[in-house]
Amino acid sequence: MAKSLYERLGGYDAITAVANDLLPRLSSDPLLGRFWAHRGADGVAREKQLLIAFLCHAAGGPVYYPGRDMKLSHKGMGISSADWEAFMKHVNATLDAFSVPPTERSEVVAFIGGTRGDIVEA
Ligand code: HEM
Repeated sequence: MAKSLYERLGGYDAITAVANDLLPRLSSDPLLGRFWAHRGADGVAREKQLLIAFLCHAAGGPVYYPGRDMKLSHKGMGISSADWEAFMKHVNATLDAFSVPPTERSEVVAFIGGTRGDIVEA
């Protein structure tokens, strides 16, 4: 049987490492930092755990995602197209940092791109 994207990316630990790399890039970005300003460390840790579960589940891993859907969880944040472009720039930088191969990279970018319509609202 063909290997899942989850397996090809290296499983839970690899996806966790990706989230650990990506989130500080987002929260320290001058445009995006406002979304993480004044949030407590434990809330941020919880959000990271949910992101890891979401990505593992979406990539075909044996992980249950206990969070809310993308539309509901981002509704009212006013995430704009410019925010989205900045977000994707960091996703690409993280994928570069882990030297994710082209096939897996395009699958990850396509999956994330598919959530845009639920997340960008302004
Ligand atoms: C510019 C783009 C984005 C921004 C600024 C952003 C920001 C945030 C923030 C601030 C939260 C915490 C919400 C809360 O605690 O109530 C959150 C939750 C979350 N985000 Fe995003 N996000 C973005 C894009 C994405 C994308 C592309 C994905 C997935 C591919 C994603 C996955 C999640 C998940 C899984 C949660 C947790 C949902 C839950 O609390 O149930 N986000 N996001």
